[in-house]
Amino acid sequence: MSNPPAEGAALHSLSPAVQDLTRLNTLGLVSRADAFVTLADPAQLPAVSRLARDGSSLLVLGGGSNLVLPERVAGLVARVAFKGVRLLEARPDAWLVEAAGGETWHGFVETCVGQGWDGLENLALIPGTVGAAPVQNIGAYGVELQERFHSLTAWDVREGRYVEMSAADCRFSYRDSVFKHGEPGRWIIVSVRFALPRPWRPVLGYPDLQRHARLAAGAPAARQVFDAVCEIRRAKLPDPAVTGNAGSFFKNPIVSADTRDALAGRFPGLVSYAQADGSCKLAAGWLIDQCGWKGRTLGAAGVHDRQALVLVNRGGAGAADIMALARAIQDAVFERYGVRLEPEPVVV
Ligand code: EPU
Repeated sequence: MSNPPAEGAALHSLSPAVQDLTRLNTLGLVSRADAFVTLADPAQLPAVSRLARDGSSLLVLGGGSNLVLPERVAGLVARVAFKGVRLLEARPDAWLVEAAGGETWHGFVETCVGQGWDGLENLALIPGTVGAAPVQNIGAYGVELQERFHSLTAWDVREGRYVEMSAADCRFSYRDSVFKHGEPGRWIIVSVRFALPRPWRPVLGYPDLQRHARLAAGAPAARQVFDAVCEIRRAKLPDPAVTGNAGSFFKNPIVSADTRDALAGRFPGLVSYAQADGSCKLAAGWLIDQCGWKGRTLGAAGVHDRQALVLVNRGGAGAADIMALARAIQDAVFERYGVRLEPEPVVV
């Protein structure tokens, strides 16, 4: 998995082909790649470096769940399909588990919970792949990837070599990492290692979990937390297999405590969460909802009727439809609250 390519790997060649990407992005945006390859074996990585002479012309595709794709993607598109999950070490203080970048995230979480390697259950049912998870430092129901992250192996496309990256190297912050900035297409995440703390303790502080009947009875097992998170997500978030979407389309904006207090004075009911550094996170879904956008449609794009933070494809939408809707929402929220919403997905 994270081993260097076997001798003779330089002989591995790739034959890029035109590919329809409409079914390879969860928003279901109509899109096409000029030059597409699937990477099933890390031995193909040197060939990627040869094809994408500079990293800027490479788009790395995982589950396509956090992307806004244009109608035509020029340059090389590489879909990561490396597979494998293994326990590296049962340390007294943590399970050290490694998963290949192409594993589906939810399948990996389910495998871990099934094996008793608990600690990822709050992140159940997040669409996408293991390799995409560190890119936006996925988080839900009180747990963020960075809290369970150990390290990762990436292929440095520009330098044509493997690199090991620690959490500090990844520069994680809220829905953000080094992989979202600077040099798009510089790294391909080959495998990710997680340290799952022992003894396990459930994380049940998130309001939705506190309210959940299944968890109210006392000390739940990880499997029960997993099931509860799946139930809550299914009730609120559209299944991308049925309705195209990319999860939360906007980040929850972070403002100063003074700004929050001023807003709360004018808008009773404002939902906000105090951050460790004294700043405040505002619930973007609440802001959008209050502006009356929940359930609305603009062109072929719309706002989900049970969670205003999720934009959906009403059928046949392209990037222009989604971005026009996103701008209309940003303008409405800015006009009313003076707060600028920032998209969460990577807009290609
Ligand atoms: N709210 C509304 N109206 C709405 C949506 C939300 O009033 O239409 C209110 C809710 O009542 C609640 C607050 O806004 O008081 C926050 O809503 P919720 O708990 O549903 O979570 P969120 O802030 O909308 C974030 C993440 C989700 C993650 C959930 C649960 C971001 C951008 N989103 O959503 O992540 O699943 O918390 O932890 O941080 C994703 O990133 O793709 C994603 C789905």
